[in-house]
Amino acid sequence: MCYQKPTIFLKPLAIAILLGLQANVTHAEQDNSQNFDDGAQVYKSYCAACHQMDGSGVPGSFPPQKGHAVEMFNLETGITGRQYLVKVVNYGLTGSIEVNGIDYSGNMPAWKGALSDQQIADVLNFIVTSFGNDNQLQKPFLPYTANEINAIANEDISGTDVYKLRLSMIGQKPSISANKVPDNSYALTLDETLPSPIYVAAQNSSQIEKLPSLQVWEGVKGAHYDAITPDGSRLLVSGFKTGQVYIIDTDSGKILANLAAGDIAQGVKISPNGKLGFAVVPKQHSVTVIDMEKMKVIKKIKVGKEPHNTVFNADGSKAFVTLQGAGAIAVINMQSLIKENEISTPGIKTPHNIDISRDDKRLWLRDFTGKVGVLDIASEKVLKVFKVGTGHGGIDVIPNSHLVVTGAISDSTISIIDTDKLKLVHTIDVGAGPHGVRASADGRFIFVSVTGENKIAIIDSTTLTVVREQPINGRFPFWIAVQGNP
Ligand code: HEC
Repeated sequence: MCYQKPTIFLKPLAIAILLGLQANVTHAEQDNSQNFDDGAQVYKSYCAACHQMDGSGVPGSFPPQKGHAVEMFNLETGITGRQYLVKVVNYGLTGSIEVNGIDYSGNMPAWKGALSDQQIADVLNFIVTSFGNDNQLQKPFLPYTANEINAIANEDISGTDVYKLRLSMIGQKPSISANKVPDNSYALTLDETLPSPIYVAAQNSSQIEKLPSLQVWEGVKGAHYDAITPDGSRLLVSGFKTGQVYIIDTDSGKILANLAAGDIAQGVKISPNGKLGFAVVPKQHSVTVIDMEKMKVIKKIKVGKEPHNTVFNADGSKAFVTLQGAGAIAVINMQSLIKENEISTPGIKTPHNIDISRDDKRLWLRDFTGKVGVLDIASEKVLKVFKVGTGHGGIDVIPNSHLVVTGAISDSTISIIDTDKLKLVHTIDVGAGPHGVRASADGRFIFVSVTGENKIAIIDSTTLTVVREQPINGRFPFWIAVQGNP
């Protein structure tokens, strides 16, 4: 496709200069279109030297704004793209990124202080609506305001921190590739670390990957969270932003059903008897219940504000659902499929992912920003809150052990908590953006999906060291399903 020079950019400016109007704009005229002109001016003075007047950038040195600023704006993983752009322009960006298949590892300068909040709002409005970006922009588009910039960019963070945020949104290309990790570089082979298959949902490439067989199943749009039936025969997968859930045959990889769960589907789980699937639908404040055998939606249960994920107790009589928007856990009676209680979780404002202790007495909660809480179900008390890595992540009570593991998508570490001592006992560096965490059914190994590096880190739960790293084929491995450890 051939893009024209953006005449929209030059025209208002040229006319303004011609008419000599630029200095006499009255207050009433300062509407959005006026801001657009101001934004064009900021862009020309402060951004075009690198990103070019027509927004096309310089391949290998400065990433394009054309087609790309809007792509970032439209993202809704981790923090929203809208907020991300505010952070980039305020604090800069340091780290290696990939845009349209081309690598950049430069340094985007920080503009906070050098440009006013109004100028930053104006230039952001300009880049997301110019160079043809307008065509892809999510509508309705509410222009950025100086107040919004002020509210989002109110802390002191670095370009490296912004880079971590970026990783939490879209990851990067693998820092290790299949041929760089010979099988003999680790003491254990892939088969040794995978006593039974695991299923990795690679969100940005819409794939499910089965390990250790390395099978790749494509066309699972937005593969986000996945869960496996107790007998290991079926996967239930939510599609990020598609609102669909898929039922997949674990032998053939065939998509057996594609069901509409709601506008967005997040966490999925399967009841201990394998009969019911739960798909959490945050915007409709509900859980969609699926008959796994008939492969049909049978009910939607109202659970409370912005639910995210769920877990069943061992006998399947209850399900617990995190309410990220309410700072609480909803308790579902599985006989009636009705919410019977809501337990608030002080100290954990945004409960995100969840697991339950083997004895069914405690819930382990991972929040959205960097904390883990442990809730005693009977007394409805949060016993303790732990500070873990930054950002959200999965959480898993490791079978046959006294350990809980959690990821941290805006960080590079996983944290290990001792469930007897209620103490954070270990932090392990696994690479950029660890999110999904699941132990093998026997508890021997911990699998971590490292979103920013497109790999699975495998940790020995007795030595708490990384014993293997397995690159995957897809991008942004978000979640892992393991038979025997729901
Ligand atoms: C000195 C050169 C330079 C200038 C001036 C500059 N940038 Fe950048 N910009 C970069 C580089 C280099 C990157 C990529 C950084 C990296 O590789 O980590 C970048 C990245 C970005 C990104 C993020 C893209 C992504 O994929 O995350 C945005 C948005 C952006 N710039 C907007 C702007 C705006 C708006 C201005 C003007 C206010 C501006 N830039 C001025 C060099 C520049």
